[in-house]
Amino acid sequence: MNREAWSAVAETAKIAVEDPRSLVPGAPDLEPIVKTEDLWKVYRSGALDVPALRGVAMEVLPGEFVAIMGPSGCGKSTLLHVIGGLAQATRGRVLLDGNDLSEMTDAGRTKLRRHKVGFVFQRFNLLPTLDARGNIAIAQHIHGDGFDPHRFDVVTHMLGLAGRLRHRPAELSGGEQQRVAIARAIINEPKILLADEPTGNLDTKNSESVLHMLRQLNQQLGQTTILITHNPEAAAFAHRVLHMRDGQIVDSIPAD
Ligand SMILES: Nc1ncnc2c1ncn2[C@@H]1O[C@H](COP(=O)(O)OP(=O)(O)O)[C@@H](O)[C@H]1O
Ligand SMILES: [Mg+2]
Repeated sequence: MNREAWSAVAETAKIAVEDPRSLVPGAPDLEPIVKTEDLWKVYRSGALDVPALRGVAMEVLPGEFVAIMGPSGCGKSTLLHVIGGLAQATRGRVLLDGNDLSEMTDAGRTKLRRHKVGFVFQRFNLLPTLDARGNIAIAQHIHGDGFDPHRFDVVTHMLGLAGRLRHRPAELSGGEQQRVAIARAIINEPKILLADEPTGNLDTKNSESVLHMLRQLNQQLGQTTILITHNPEAAAFAHRVLHMRDGQIVDSIPAD
């Protein structure tokens, strides 16, 4: 089953499941994009050990849109950082598109991250001196196989940026800046998009439009996505919602 087909099926699934494979006949054959096993992350803070992740086991299948919710400090960002290779686990394994991050050097993880992962954060982190086009294209030049005009057009149209490409970040609204950051994150066709509270700095209207676009990218391009959010509406259109508390996933349910 291909990404699009899986995505379409998963979209209509409304039954409560622990294992996303039970949604779809044929899904057992799918290799997960992300798989974690007994994942622990302990921060050392002076003499104190702060366990931010305490044995997280999860999988994300190709084409899935997974939301993560939970109170502040429960380990959501840490989980995303470890999955995306920005931080190293203290114990346990992370498989990213079949690659075991726990066995890699920092340099190896960085290389893999550049090719396979797109990150979006609450802060947009755009380069102020470049216009929107430059901010997006630079990712293609640095990390990709060079500039792909077709991909660039598809992504910028889907994100509603076609008319804003000559504007610098300071000349764009917060919502537009975040859409540029999303375009930059997905321009190289990452295996997974990791979004850490991307609407946290946006007003209601801009939040809605950003969430709507993340959903469209998933539905129309098959973009596998993990979204950390406090927004119940975003959780409502995800295929699954993982609820975290105290460094653990305490619940995994599909939204209705
Ligand atoms: N770099 C760090 N050093 C020490 N403790 C940290 C660090 N980053 C996060 N923590 C702690 O780990 C726990 C989980 O944090 P975080 O993953 O940011 O949670 P969330 O994103 O759910 O708010 C918190 O107790 C936080 O204080
Ligand atoms: Mg966080």
